[in-house]
Amino acid sequence: MTLRLEKFFGNQIESQMAPYIAAIAQLRLEVFRDFPHLYQSTLAYEEKSLQILAQAPHCFILLVFDVEQLVGASIALPFEYAFKTAEIKQRLSQQGFSPETFMYFYQSALKRSYRHQGVGTRFFTEREIYANSLKQFNYCCFYAIQRPLDHPQCPIHYVPLDHFWSRRGYTQFPSMEISVAWQDRGETVKSSKIMQFWMKKLI
Ligand SMILES: CC(C)(COP(=O)(O)OP(=O)(O)OC[C@H]1O[C@@H](n2cnc3c(N)ncnc32)[C@H](O)[C@@H]1OP(=O)(O)O)[C@@H](O)C(=O)NCCC(=O)NCCS
Repeated sequence: MTLRLEKFFGNQIESQMAPYIAAIAQLRLEVFRDFPHLYQSTLAYEEKSLQILAQAPHCFILLVFDVEQLVGASIALPFEYAFKTAEIKQRLSQQGFSPETFMYFYQSALKRSYRHQGVGTRFFTEREIYANSLKQFNYCCFYAIQRPLDHPQCPIHYVPLDHFWSRRGYTQFPSMEISVAWQDRGETVKSSKIMQFWMKKLI
C-alpha cells in the first residue's frame, strides 16, 4: 500500500488546510471515539478547534493519504499556543522550564487499518525535525490520557502506547500531570481523566 504524506507549515496553513478541515475532523471523531479516549465530540466542535490550531504561529500539520482518502493526521504547535490557560504554563515555569521553548504535539490520529507500518513513528520524526529546524525550541512534549487497564471499556487486546512513546525517546514528567473532565462516550455527565505529560529534549 502506498501512502502519501503532505506537510503544511506556518502562516499559510490556514488557507491551505481549508479543503481538509472537515476530513481531519471526521478522522478525529472516528479514531478518538475508541478506548482510551472515548470522546463523543461533534464535527462542528472538531472543525472549530482545528481552525483555531491552524492559526497558531509555527503550526505544522502532517496529513497522510491513501490515494485521495485522508487516513492520518498529526499536528505540532508551540506549547504557548496550545494552552490558553496560564496555569499549565506556570507549572512548567515553576519546574524551571521556559514554556516558549516547548513544541507541543497535538494528538495524532491514524485509521486502524493503517497502523503498525511506521506512520506513527514518522509523525514523531517529522515533527521533531520541524521543531529542531526552527531553532527556538528545546523540547517536544504532549499530554496523553491514562486510563486503568481494568476500565470496563478497555478492549481485551488493548496495548497502551507508553512503550511506543518510550521507544521514541519520550519520558513521563509526573509533576506536570493534570486532570481534565469531559463526558465519555456512553456517559451522561462529565468525569475526570488523568493526563500524563511526556517530553523529550531536542538535539
Ligand atoms: C498513535 C498512532 C498514530 C501510532 O501509529 P502507528 O502507525 O501504528 O505507529 P508505528 O507503526 O510507527 O509504530 C507502532 C509500532 O509498530 C511498529 N512498526 C513500525 N513499522 C512496522 C512495520 N512495518 N511492521 C510491523 N510493526 C511496525 C513500531 O516499531 C511500533 O512498535 P513499538 O511500539 O514496539 O515501538 C496510532 O496508534 C493511533 O492513531 N492511535 C489512536 C490514536 C491515539 O491514541 N493517538 C495518540 C494520542 S496522544
